[in-house]
Amino acid sequence: MSRPLPTLAELRIESGTPVLVRVDFNVPLHDGEVADDTRIRAALPTIQHLRERGAKVVLCSHLGRPKGKPVAEYSLEPVASKLAELLETEIIFAHDTVGDEVASLLDEVQPGGVMVVENLRFHPGEKANDPDFSQQLARLGRAYVNDAFGAMHRAHASVVGAAEQSEQIAAGLLVEAEVKALDKLLHGPERPFIAILGGAKVSDKIGVIETLARRCDGILVGGAMAYTFMAAQGRPVGTSRVESEKFLLAKRLLERCTERGVTIYLPVDHVVAEAPDSESCQVVKEIPDGMAGFDIGPETVARWTDVIGRAGTVFWNGPLGMFEIEAFSAGTMAIAEAVAGCEGYTLVGGGDSAAAVKRSGMADRFDHISTGGGASLEFVEGKELPGLRTLRLRSS
Ligand code: 3PG
Repeated sequence: MSRPLPTLAELRIESGTPVLVRVDFNVPLHDGEVADDTRIRAALPTIQHLRERGAKVVLCSHLGRPKGKPVAEYSLEPVASKLAELLETEIIFAHDTVGDEVASLLDEVQPGGVMVVENLRFHPGEKANDPDFSQQLARLGRAYVNDAFGAMHRAHASVVGAAEQSEQIAAGLLVEAEVKALDKLLHGPERPFIAILGGAKVSDKIGVIETLARRCDGILVGGAMAYTFMAAQGRPVGTSRVESEKFLLAKRLLERCTERGVTIYLPVDHVVAEAPDSESCQVVKEIPDGMAGFDIGPETVARWTDVIGRAGTVFWNGPLGMFEIEAFSAGTMAIAEAVAGCEGYTLVGGGDSAAAVKRSGMADRFDHISTGGGASLEFVEGKELPGLRTLRLRSS
């Protein structure tokens, strides 16, 4: 059993104590505005908890991958504006992440007030987990809270170094909830345990497929990933997107699942077109030459709905087709409905699948929708996430 996470309740905070909170505000932006505020909303319980205790809340996050230097399009300023709107309060935005100016701005924050500092990844020290940068971050608070579940798999300064250099540390409420929800998949999940995996690349999911092959009773594989598995079996895939360098690996994964008695379900029909923007598409059992698959077909949906309906536990990661295009969204939406209707424990991880569930309008019928993409996959793989490890090492 792993050690418990240190909790917010254990922090010694008085009115006016500055608390550095690592959040995952890596959200999609559109025309300079937040396009999906799910991750911001998910951090609100921790922020409100700390405000109610009179802390000065200093929020830090990454946004995008700006490679260690300031890039205007990755500024957290629009995110801070969205947060101000959600909290219905004024927020101080610091145009740098650390340094004297940030420290003097912090003096202006009132007890219960909130400050957002600029994108952590504008500094090369963040990804390098640089000790100096970590120390500068840690100095922004007299306590450190990690509520960035989506970044827990990154051994960066704000996730590891700053926590190590802080006098008192705790996991935020979102992190606690995510760990509790995902732990259910690792410890005695109700059977049958079914995983639904989609998305474009097999290479992103090798580790998780290997682990799931040990834990699950069945794996439903959709998205472009499925075509790599089909091609590896010698089935026709037309011009569908495949990773030919992964054929051997895909074949081995299929064999390993068969040896372990884990059923791998590949699509039995497909929605195909010449290109994603073609005017016409059709449903086929076998993908013809010159056509590519962009969604699972209705017979696949019917079979998978039946499998999902009998599941005790369902874990879903990755869309099953190009759901952002209307003509190829039916498969993903139908599977969202099937999972929503399942009486077992249902958990969705990953930005795209979470967005698909949200679009289906059935998000509240899932037991848990993780805010972590890569982090939730690594968790399910059974890896020890650096952020969680750092927190646990400091639990009393
Ligand atoms: C995510 O969106 O999965 C997290 O915010 C981590 O982002 P990263 O993959 O750029 O580290």
